[in-house]
Amino acid sequence: MLKHLYKFDYRIDKDQLRKEHKLMQESNDTSLHNVNTDLLEKVNAGRETGEDIFPTYHDLKDKEQWDNMDTLKIRAFNEYQYQDDCPEMKRLTNDFAKILDSKDITPFFVLQEQNSDFPMHIDMGFQCAINLIIDGGDTPIMFREDDGSIHKYNYDNALLNICNVFHGVPKQQDMKRMLLKFRIKDVSYNNACKRMMEYFSE
Ligand SMILES: [Fe+2]
Repeated sequence: MLKHLYKFDYRIDKDQLRKEHKLMQESNDTSLHNVNTDLLEKVNAGRETGEDIFPTYHDLKDKEQWDNMDTLKIRAFNEYQYQDDCPEMKRLTNDFAKILDSKDITPFFVLQEQNSDFPMHIDMGFQCAINLIIDGGDTPIMFREDDGSIHKYNYDNALLNICNVFHGVPKQQDMKRMLLKFRIKDVSYNNACKRMMEYFSE
């Protein structure tokens, strides 16, 4: 399990996070971006590797779905601007920065529509991520090993090895899903995992 994710318990004020998301939603200073081929190619261009994202980071068979996807959105915002208005997001960002010894950790909200899935892929542009599920915790994450085996996990809070291992989310059944996600650029998954285990003293 540890090579895919590290689950942990942490006190999180979900109601406050819902309020903070609403505040952003109502302001003109944030924007929603569809996660689709277009966005992913922009991320890839930023890496300047010149690599094609298919099929290295996504399965070729899913290309059409990625091209047309409009069910997964991320809310982009200026994190400094929201430091005062989003105390819970700020607290969690600072706490995880300390636990992981990271100076490059960025929070953002992820919204996934009901009845939508999220095909297998590898994330680009950072090293690992923390997901906190605010709504829709019944949907698992599935990791796929090189031998094709699928490993399914349910979690509330987890550090995820999503920049090294193929993973996806099956159809979201019960409700619209909302996560607070932290991208970590300066700490590898393995080091982040070690630091979390030390912190939570396992
Ligand atoms: Fe991902």
